[in-house]
Amino acid sequence: MAVLAKTSSWALLDQFQYINKQYLRVEECLMVDGLSENTFSRYEIKNDLFAIYTPFVMESQAKAIIQRGSDSQKVRKRKRKLDHEEQPCEKKIFIKSVLLDIQKTGKDLQVFKPDHNALEKFQNNHTARSASMIPGFKDMFQKMCEEKKDMCVFPDNLNNSHIKKIAGPKETHSAHSFIGILGYTSFRDCATKVKVGGQICLIPDNVSFLTSDYHDLVYGGFKRLGESYDLILMDPPWQNKAVRRKKGYSMFDENELLKLPLPSLLKPGGLVCIWVTNKTHLLEYVKHTIFPEWGLHLEAQWVWLKMTRVGEPVNDIDSAHKHCYEFLIIGRRNEKTMDSTGISQNHQSNTPRTSDTNYLGQLQNTETSAEEYHEMNIIKTSVVEQLADTSRSKEELAIDEDSPQPVDNIPANFVLASIPCSIHSKKPDILEVIRPYIKKNPRCLELFARNLNSGWTSWGNEPLLHQHVDFFDKVSK
Ligand SMILES: C[S@@+](CC[C@H](N)C(=O)[O-])C[C@H]1O[C@@H](n2cnc3c(N)ncnc32)[C@H](O)[C@@H]1O
Repeated sequence: MAVLAKTSSWALLDQFQYINKQYLRVEECLMVDGLSENTFSRYEIKNDLFAIYTPFVMESQAKAIIQRGSDSQKVRKRKRKLDHEEQPCEKKIFIKSVLLDIQKTGKDLQVFKPDHNALEKFQNNHTARSASMIPGFKDMFQKMCEEKKDMCVFPDNLNNSHIKKIAGPKETHSAHSFIGILGYTSFRDCATKVKVGGQICLIPDNVSFLTSDYHDLVYGGFKRLGESYDLILMDPPWQNKAVRRKKGYSMFDENELLKLPLPSLLKPGGLVCIWVTNKTHLLEYVKHTIFPEWGLHLEAQWVWLKMTRVGEPVNDIDSAHKHCYEFLIIGRRNEKTMDSTGISQNHQSNTPRTSDTNYLGQLQNTETSAEEYHEMNIIKTSVVEQLADTSRSKEELAIDEDSPQPVDNIPANFVLASIPCSIHSKKPDILEVIRPYIKKNPRCLELFARNLNSGWTSWGNEPLLHQHVDFFDKVSK
C-alpha cells in the first residue's frame, strides 16, 4: 500500500512502496542480456533517492556547517530577495493543524525515525543528492522531440503477444513526430525490460505512452491519446528560476496550456489535478483562467507536505524563501459549461492565436490543414486506432460502463505528506488518494510525465526518463 495512513484531512504516502509494487516481477529478456530463456527478477527504485534526513540547506551552508562542526543556527543566512508573492496564510495554518498528527502516526508506523544517527545531520542529504545525479537518458528524449526525430522502442521479445503495438518511423511524419507508443494488455502481472536508443529501461504492466513535443500534442497528436479520461493529472513545466539555472527541463509560457483541447480528453464527471508551485500568480491563473477556459469547476486545493525521514518538514513552514509544500489544484468537469459535444463553451483554443501562425504554416504544408486542425478540436472521440483502448479488456470496459458515479465529496483542504524523492520536481503518486472521488476502474492520463505507472497513459517529451534501469536496483532473481 502506498497510502500508509489516511484521515479526513491528511494522508501519509510512501512513494517508494508505490513504485516498487510495479516491479515485483520483471521479465528479463533475451535481446537485452543474451539470456537463453526469459527469467523474472524483482527490482526496486533506488532507496537512496529517498534518503532525505535533514531540512534543506544550500550547499555553501552545508559546507560551513561541516567546517564549523556547529549548528545550522549559527550559519549566516544567504541574503536573498524575498518572494513577495505571499503564500495563502490559511494553508500554512491548516498544515500546522495536522502536522503533529502526521508526525505521531509516521513515528508509530516507523516511517519517521526521530532518533536518527546525529552524524547524518551535517551530510546535507548527500546520499540522496548523489543518487539523483544518475545520468540515465539525460536529455535524449527532449532533443529528439525538438529535432522531430523518430525512435522505436524495442521490446525484449518481439514475439510476445502482449505487445499490442509498437510505433516506429513508418507511423510518424514530420509534423506530428512521435517517438513511440507501446501497449500491454491488462493483468499480465509483470513488467518488462526493453531497449530504447541502446539503453535499457523497465516498463510496468498495463501502460501506454506517447512521446512528443507539446505542439504536436496540441495540433492533433492528442488524438493518439485515445478516448477520454476520468482523471487527468499534469505537472506543467512552469517558468521557474531553479529549473532555468539547472537546465533541468524545458519550460514554456503558461498561456500555451490554454491551447490544449483538454475538454475533449475529459469524460463527464472527470477530474483534472494540476500541480502548481508556490507562486501566487500561477495558483490564480490555474483557478481563474485555465479552469474556466477548460470548463472545470474548482473543487479543492490540496497541499503536498514534504517531510524528512526524521519526521520534520523539509523546510520551516513559515520560511519565506524555501517552501516545504506545493499545491495540487483539483477541478471537475462542469457539465453546465459543456455543449452537446462535450466541449467547453469557453474553450477558444481552436482559434489559432497570432503566435501560432508559423506553426500552422508548417502544418498546412504537411499533413494537417487549418480545417482539419479545427475539426480535430471538436472531435470528441478519436477516429484512429487507439492504443490506450486496446490495452484494456472488453470485460473491464463493461465494468466501467456499469460502475456508479463517484459519491464522495472531495475535501477542499487536504494534506498529502510524504518523504520526497531527491530527483528535482518529482511528485508523489496520487491515484490511491484520489480514487474515492472518481469512478471505478478509471482511465487515467498523466501529462508532462517523466515516468510510467501501471494503469496510466503517460504523455510528455520524456515519459520514459525515470524508467531507465539505472534508477533501479535488482533485488532478487
Ligand atoms: C515539472 S516536469 C514534470 C515532473 C513530473 N511530474 C515528475 O514527477 O517527474 C515537466 C515536464 O514537462 C516537460 N516539457 C517541457 N516542455 C515541454 C514541451 N514543449 N513539450 C512536452 N513536454 C515538455 C519537461 O521536459 C518535463 O519532463
